[in-house]
Amino acid sequence: MALYLVGGVVRDLLLGRKTLDLDLTVEGDGLAFARSVAGRYKASVVQYERFATARLVLPDGQKIDIASTRRESYADPAALPKVEPSSVRVDLFRRDFTINAMAVQLNAGNFGLLHDPYSGQRDLRSKTLRVLHEESFRDDPTRIFRAIRFMQRFGFSLESGSRRLLAEAAAANLISRLSGPRLRNEVLLLLAEHQPSRATDWLVRLNLLRFLHPRLRYTRRVKRLLDAVSPACAWWAKLRSAPSVERPVICLMALLSEAGPSILRSVAQRMNLSSGQSAAIDWSGSQTDLILKRLLQNRELRPSQVYRLLIGLPPEALVLLAAKMQLPAAGREARRCRQRLARYMKRDRHAAIAVRGEDLKKLGLKPGPRFKSILDRLLGARLDGKVKTEAEEREMAYRMVARSG
Ligand code: CTP
Repeated sequence: MALYLVGGVVRDLLLGRKTLDLDLTVEGDGLAFARSVAGRYKASVVQYERFATARLVLPDGQKIDIASTRRESYADPAALPKVEPSSVRVDLFRRDFTINAMAVQLNAGNFGLLHDPYSGQRDLRSKTLRVLHEESFRDDPTRIFRAIRFMQRFGFSLESGSRRLLAEAAAANLISRLSGPRLRNEVLLLLAEHQPSRATDWLVRLNLLRFLHPRLRYTRRVKRLLDAVSPACAWWAKLRSAPSVERPVICLMALLSEAGPSILRSVAQRMNLSSGQSAAIDWSGSQTDLILKRLLQNRELRPSQVYRLLIGLPPEALVLLAAKMQLPAAGREARRCRQRLARYMKRDRHAAIAVRGEDLKKLGLKPGPRFKSILDRLLGARLDGKVKTEAEEREMAYRMVARSG
């Protein structure tokens, strides 16, 4: 069988960039090839019969996608294609851009031979993104997002004919036909790029935000906030024991930061966000604004008050809050706010008390709402340093129970 390295990995090799995913394609039975490679390298293999593709995961975690060279036909714009076997040349023609339509043969004898029937190398040199045919964006509207991604990532410009086709496809309602998971995937990949606000500028220029929600507004503050997300994530990553966060989701929250609850709900639904992602984006707008306001306005906030403000927030919302602190509106108090957030993350969120409900029962308190309020006050006292030892804590509990008795 003729075997090729294909697509993005060839592009990245020619650009001298690191690439993590390996895409292989086989002229012949890709699935049989995948099974045989899996056996030889002790890789696990998942097969997708419908598209005659397979994914191998090698024992060291390296992933390899294997396909059979194929022709694709699209019955309907934005639908998934019908596939049938073909030569590598035809396989390359079905792809999105010339720079992604090159293959390197891997067979002994022809090892390293570059197949570049559509002048991808020329376009790489002239930093040009060019579709292979007129129907490209119609066949697969996710390519509208991909075009923005590649222009943005490599600093390429779109060739004039492709630009016209992109604008036409963007103006048509093709994106509204994409399924939620496909739209989510593309939007989050776009926001995962190095400078998400530049990618978003493109969405705005092409009037594509309407596919997330027709009333979504892109203000200067939103753009600034998007720019503040990366530094906030870098700051977060340096905090000891901070849980890992999804940067693209925080960017999405920034993008939605001026939207009200009904728009947030509808975007979460349209994009088919996971429950964790939806819970995070609920915090995009006024809820974190309000917390920020409290943190900024009250210089004398005690650690226990900060704790109560922050305790319910998912990690992504905390990072967004840190990004909001970077905006000029936060003014001179921003630094102090950051320090409070850092203290909460490093220390206070782990705070615990020794006294339990059982102990209160033993002191004669009947179970009821007083339980929670006493335990909360004990925790507050610990956080604010009013009680420092277990003995002091127990004494305070005793006093409170006695008072309520
Ligand atoms: N491809 C395509 N049309 C799409 C998606 C993918 O033609 N809508 C082809 C391109 O040849 C692409 C290859 O499939 O290079 C692999 O796709 P993918 O892994 O999504 O993209 P990469 O080009 O590898 O880009 P990235 O570096 O962002 O992963």
